[in-house]
Amino acid sequence: MSVRNNGRGYYNHNLFWPILSPDGGGEPEGELLDAINRDYSSFGDFNSEFSRAAANRFGSGWAWLIRKEDGLLTVTFTSNQDNPMMDIAGVKGFPLLGLDVWEHAYYLKYQNRRPEYPEAFWNLVHRNEVARRFSK
Ligand SMILES: [Fe+2]
Repeated sequence: MSVRNNGRGYYNHNLFWPILSPDGGGEPEGELLDAINRDYSSFGDFNSEFSRAAANRFGSGWAWLIRKEDGLLTVTFTSNQDNPMMDIAGVKGFPLLGLDVWEHAYYLKYQNRRPEYPEAFWNLVHRNEVARRFSK
């Protein structure tokens, strides 16, 4: 279990840091935005769904936007340091965006106001990096 947590934790954090930018925030453009609109009807709807996934799940883990094998985008959540590329993931796919929802990530600033954390996250998302992952 600790090897799984450490190995995946490394992968997850390597994905996490590049998608954050002090100049982040705002709507993506191009094909990524088209895909979000196709699968979530609007960028705002997608934001709400993702924030809910991050705020409402019990315990530590990660909220994700993934591209499934069929090409559709979906929001999902994995426990601990698991991620959606693992065989054991309930919903599998390639992660485009991940949010660390471990207490160490938000507790210092937000304590039990966990819903405020994903809201703040939206102002930091580096949409070009997410678009780059989408086009991979
Ligand atoms: Fe973390």
